[in-house]
Amino acid sequence: MKVLIVGSGGREHAIAASVAKSSKVSKIYCAPGNAGIGQIAECVNIGAMEFDKLVAFSMENAIDFVIVGMDDPLVGGLVDELEAAGIRTFGPRKNAAILEGSKAFSKDLMKKYNIPTAAYENFDDADAAIAYLENSTYPIVLKADGLALGKGVLICNTKEEAIAGVKEIMTDKKFGSAGNRMVIEEFMTGREVSVLSFVDGKTIKIMTSAQDHKRAKDNDEGLNTGGMGTFSPSPFYTAEVDEFCKKYIYQATVDAMAAEGREFKGIIFFGLMLTPNGPRVLEYNARFGDPETQVVLPRMKNDIIEVMEACVDGRLDEIDLQFEDNAAVCVVLASEGYPVSYEKGFVIEGLDAFEDKDGYYCFHAGTKLTENGIVTNGGRVLGITAKGADLKEARANAYKATEWVQFENKYMRHDIGKAIDEA
Ligand code: AMP
Ligand code: GLY
Repeated sequence: MKVLIVGSGGREHAIAASVAKSSKVSKIYCAPGNAGIGQIAECVNIGAMEFDKLVAFSMENAIDFVIVGMDDPLVGGLVDELEAAGIRTFGPRKNAAILEGSKAFSKDLMKKYNIPTAAYENFDDADAAIAYLENSTYPIVLKADGLALGKGVLICNTKEEAIAGVKEIMTDKKFGSAGNRMVIEEFMTGREVSVLSFVDGKTIKIMTSAQDHKRAKDNDEGLNTGGMGTFSPSPFYTAEVDEFCKKYIYQATVDAMAAEGREFKGIIFFGLMLTPNGPRVLEYNARFGDPETQVVLPRMKNDIIEVMEACVDGRLDEIDLQFEDNAAVCVVLASEGYPVSYEKGFVIEGLDAFEDKDGYYCFHAGTKLTENGIVTNGGRVLGITAKGADLKEARANAYKATEWVQFENKYMRHDIGKAIDEA
């Protein structure tokens, strides 16, 4: 079977590595891919938003199965276009990807179907939003409705900050059209957990839990990033939390989407906060997390293509999803200065060290193959992942492996998984 993966980050490299292990797959393409993905797949120079070219490429090359990894093409309707051309595709259609594409939609869905989340109001007018802030309690959370590269959430400690935030989002359009509408919601406290799941429209199967580290600097200081590291499983995702979420959140979300005529097939990523009053949904994503995928998929025992095909065919209930009884930690190696400004084009040394080392992975994010070798080509460069018998061992292994790779301006957090010590 010939598979095309759409995307170019560490997440897509982790997906490609899983797909490469499938006994059903004879050839993998990735559009556009990166230097690491290029070692296991043929990279095709087509952007993830070039829908016509992706459809034409899939037809010309008789692609049997497409996996869409990224949010923008999912929300934009790439799955619908591929399906219309008769190409089997893994991922939600446009009318279901709205679960991630519009925070106002997802909040209304949760309210209508009694799925636990923060109290909120939606606004499509800046004056009404500012009037609402008069009688609110602080801190408060502002969210641009649409996709904003993970940056459209502002936590405001005072009314003045919040008014400035509403203006940034709705008047100055700092996040573009994502800010045509916005959500204002209650500030919650607690630990965050990421739970990824496979969904076939009716049935949902939960993967092992993970936790991300979004801030750029140690001790959760600095700016928000795409994610600086992850660990899996989360020791805070207890049997009690799992039971609560199974009862009130997971199946309820899938059923709500079906009841709305928006059957969801693909990945639902539940961003949860474990508040003193129980788990609450912070956000939904309609795709694998990055860098959560880098610690979750290496621990999955199933053939990923079998699971994904079951989702597309609506027979996920036949799959026994299984994960290894161990742990994994991913430390992101970034370019100094990320997420603001950074230099690119530095040669990366030491990548060979990962060859034939069981339980160690070097997932590429921003890398490029040039005549000088593989060079840095983005803010997040590599995701160094290691497994271990438990989280502490996995963390020690991952940090040891970060030393195998060198490039100029290499930057990482040194406290990924520190929360493990508090568990
Ligand atoms: P989101 O993109 O919705 O996941 O938001 C990004 C980050 O903002 C989350 O990972 C949380 O750390 C934080 N956040 C979002 N909503 C809330 C909330 N209601 N209360 C507290 N923190 C929040
Ligand atoms: N790691 C968070 C995300 O993928 O959105």
